Amino acid sequence: MKPRVLATRKLPDQVEERLVASYDATCNRSDVPLSADDLSSAMREFDAIIPTVSDRLDSAILQIPDRRVRMIANIGVGFSNIDIEAAYGNGIAVSNTPDVLTEATADIALLLILSATRGAYAAERKLRESRWRGFSIVEGLGTSIQGKVLGIIGMGRIGQATARRAAVGFGMEVVYYNRSPVRNLGFDAQPMETIDDVMALADVVSIHVPGGGSAPVVTSAHIATMKPTSFLVNTARGDSIDQNALLQALVEGTIAGAGLDVFNDEPHVPDQLRRMDNVTLLPHVGSATTEVRTAMGMMAVDNLDAFFRGHSIPNRVAPGPTD
Ligand code: DGY
Repeated sequence: MKPRVLATRKLPDQVEERLVASYDATCNRSDVPLSADDLSSAMREFDAIIPTVSDRLDSAILQIPDRRVRMIANIGVGFSNIDIEAAYGNGIAVSNTPDVLTEATADIALLLILSATRGAYAAERKLRESRWRGFSIVEGLGTSIQGKVLGIIGMGRIGQATARRAAVGFGMEVVYYNRSPVRNLGFDAQPMETIDDVMALADVVSIHVPGGGSAPVVTSAHIATMKPTSFLVNTARGDSIDQNALLQALVEGTIAGAGLDVFNDEPHVPDQLRRMDNVTLLPHVGSATTEVRTAMGMMAVDNLDAFFRGHSIPNRVAPGPTD
């Protein structure tokens, strides 16, 4: 008997073909997200599930009576959607998909840095709305990033890939905060003692710390230390920062703009943010390339295969931070 496996969302075709060949697989071809009730039922009906960052697997779901699921192969490097302590406490193995999305996500961080500092959203809107009157020397001026300070909060894999692009490709100076020392970066970057040190010095702050904590890592007090000319970019998780404080800083003009790929309570995005010209908003597309999403799916199936063959799971996750 093949193990029963559920993929909670539509996967790239190649990944679904592999799943169907190896498992008694149920694929979600409609791609409609499952409700909490659907996820609870799935816990009783399948041996393993392949969820993703939009599926909230909290302790109530993980502790459901008559549970059958023994393995959760999450598609995503982040797993703040899963209560890892509850999973471990109930003997459920969990894996993630690191590394394959690092470069793509860093690309999106740079896209947001450039878009925010050059006012790309406002400029494009002006053109599309036929308000462009032709070339102007003084209208729509952005901020150059060469020689400016990029502050990285969380110098893990994606933080490093973002910093490397900014330092080597765009001539930015990099400062960073990381909980533990980081060695052998291969480019110039100055560690700072505190998050405040980074926030106060940086012209652009880029967030690369996991979400899912009981409180945001980047608090309203941290945001209050930012310069009025500075920009904040977030490609990590909406709850990695205090989103309300960020909104307030943008409304009050205590920072110059932002570039956001992630939000609290996705897909809900506050109307106030949507109306702001100095903010670039993307719908959580950090890893959204065909190549990367296929690699992430294949990695999830590799993890599943290892589990069902009794091998050690290559990307098993334990409680604690990731990027
Ligand atoms: C992840 O992998 O955690 C991303 O946020 C989804 O691409």
